[in-house]
Formats: sequence, structure tokens, C-alpha cells
Amino acid sequence: MKNVKIVGTGSYLPNNIISNNDLASLVDTSDEWISSRTGIKNRRITTGEGTTDLAVNAAKKAIVSSNINPMDIDLIIVATISPDNFTPSTSCEVQKEIEADNAMCFDINAACSGFIYSLNTAYAYIKTGFAKNALVIGVEVLSRLTDWEDRSSCVLFGDGAGAVVISESEEIGIENFHCKSLGKLSENLKCGGTDLKNPYVSKITDKYIKMNGQEVFKFACSYVPKGIKAVIEESQYEIEDIDYFILHQANERIMDSIAKRLKISKDKFYKNIASYGNTSSASIPIALDEMFDKGILKQGHKIVIAGFGGGLTYGVSLITI
Ligand code: ACO
Repeated sequence: MKNVKIVGTGSYLPNNIISNNDLASLVDTSDEWISSRTGIKNRRITTGEGTTDLAVNAAKKAIVSSNINPMDIDLIIVATISPDNFTPSTSCEVQKEIEADNAMCFDINAACSGFIYSLNTAYAYIKTGFAKNALVIGVEVLSRLTDWEDRSSCVLFGDGAGAVVISESEEIGIENFHCKSLGKLSENLKCGGTDLKNPYVSKITDKYIKMNGQEVFKFACSYVPKGIKAVIEESQYEIEDIDYFILHQANERIMDSIAKRLKISKDKFYKNIASYGNTSSASIPIALDEMFDKGILKQGHKIVIAGFGGGLTYGVSLITI
């Protein structure tokens, strides 16, 4: 079977930068509380662009960097929990804008694990010969799901998009995945949809993200290290063989705690949470694109990427660049 390789990356963030001090004028909080508990300093919040707009901009950059003709893309998967519409899917809207007319398109909802689940799905399509070139996007406008009066959550989230193009290849590339879900823990992170309202019933749904932060924190620190160890062992590598760990940017303390549990230097964990906050499914592809742009990631590097969040879900992948 062919290998599957990342051949291009892109990202896009709205221009509007909101600092912790800006939020302190909206809710009872402080730069000191937010920075020390989470590592977040700023986040981007859209002032008009929607989920599709962010996704299209990230996709266009990934397509340019991969040097692929959009007509050669045969699969587009968008990971998001904050689409502009229930239908059409964000992936179909992206397809229209980038003129990738030969693609099959669908969205995946796995919250902050969404990018890894989508990458896993696209990888499987290419491995089994159902696709040759896939565009995988993680995009969120979490500001539309945020309760701006709830200080415990509104300080955490940001808007943004990241994208990768993956293609079949002779070279080694994406090597392995370890993805699991724990639906029995779903109550710890919820966001309602539309009201259940018809001539026979009227049930109002809570439309904003509600999170039991401490439980999600414990879940991440316990399951993600196990997933990382599993993916490395199954690929027959040692933990020392990994050059960088790129985790979902939910909380700097979660990344530090996972580094400690795995006995790995914190320096091997890429962090940009200070600039963008928690962008859910977008955080990993944004980080990947930044690392390529900065020249941090080089051919032959081995990286582990890991997402975790609503569902509850987590997913890990081992990739050779
Ligand atoms: N400013 C000031 N004080 C605050 C704020 C705020 N913004 N928010 C909460 N507080 C107060 C609380 O009211 C509480 O006060 P009390 O002790 O008087 O009751 C105190 O600070 C401590 O609150 P905790 O919730 O216990 O704070 P904690 O240290 O657990 O940090 C946090 C909260 C940052 C949310 C942390 O639990 C966390 O990061 N959890 C993981 C989140 C995560 O990983 N999510 C990933 C998925 S997100 C997704 O899927 C969309």
C-alpha cells in the first residue's frame, strides 16, 4: 500500500486581537488569572468572517504550499463544531470557493480531536485507494458558541483555521493513529444545538459551551499520555525518537503536565496558546503551519500530534515529515 504524506499546510486567523485585559472590561477577570491558569495572553475573535471564510483562507494557503491543482483534490474533510450552517457542510462551501470540483466533501464533529479524526479518515481513504489527494481543515468560530457573560469559559476560546494537504507518496509520512472516544464522560463538555420546538413540544437548549474544566483537565492528563505511548510503541519507536509533540492548545498546564508524565523536556512541546487561546479543531493545523513557516519542522523529523476534548474524545498520530 502507498504511504501518505503531508505535502502542504496553511492557516488563517482573524485580524482582531483580544487581550486578557480587553476581556477584563467584559467580565470579572484579570490578565494574571488567565495567564497563570492557562498560558493564554491573546486570542483572535472574528468581526465578520464566518467559519467558511476562515477555512477557505487556510485551504488556499495549504494548496499554494503543496503546489497541487485544486481539481486534483478528491477529498475534502472539515473538522468543526461551529459551522455557519447545518447544511451545506463547510467542506462543500470550501469546495465551491477553491473550485475543487472533483472532490467528495463532508464535515466531522469530534470537537478538539476533530483534526486528528479527520486526518485519520483522509489517511484511510488514501491508504485504501479511494482518494489520492485530500484537503483536511480544522476550523472554528468558537466565539459564536461562547457565553460572553461566563468568565470561566469566555477567556479560553478563540477563532481560527488550519489546513493540510495529504497525498499518496513513495516516502514515509503519516505512520500511525490511536483514536478513542469516551461517550460516557460526555456531560463534562457540552454545547447545545437548536431548540426542540414543533407544534407538540417546546424545549429550549443551552446554546453555549459549558465545561467541567477540572474533569476535562484530568481526562487529558490521564488519557493523552497513554495514547502517545501507545502510538509510539505500536510504531516501534522510542519516545526519544520524537522531535516534537504538538498537542491541542487547550491549556499550557495540561501540556506541561503531559510532558512531566512522559518524562520529556517541555521544550519538545510546541506552544502558541499565548497568541490564539483554545481554537479547538484548528489548533493543531495552525501550529503545524506555523512550525513549517518558522523553519522548525524539517524533512525527516518525527512528530506526535494529539487532540482531546468534547465527546469526550482523544486522538494521537505519529508522522514523519
Ligand atoms: N477569572 C477569574 N477567576 C475565575 C475565572 C476567570 N476567568 N474563571 C473562573 N474563576 C474562578 C472560579 O470562580 C473559582 O473561584 P472560587 O474558587 O472562588 O470558586 C476559581 O477561579 C477556580 O476555578 P476553577 O474552575 O477551579 O479553575 P481551574 O484551575 O480548574 O482552571 C480551566 C479552569 C482553565 C478551565 C482548567 O480547568 C482547564 O483548562 N481545563 C481543561 C479545559 C480543556 O482542556 N478543554 C479542552 C476541550 S475544549 C473543547 O472541546 C471546545
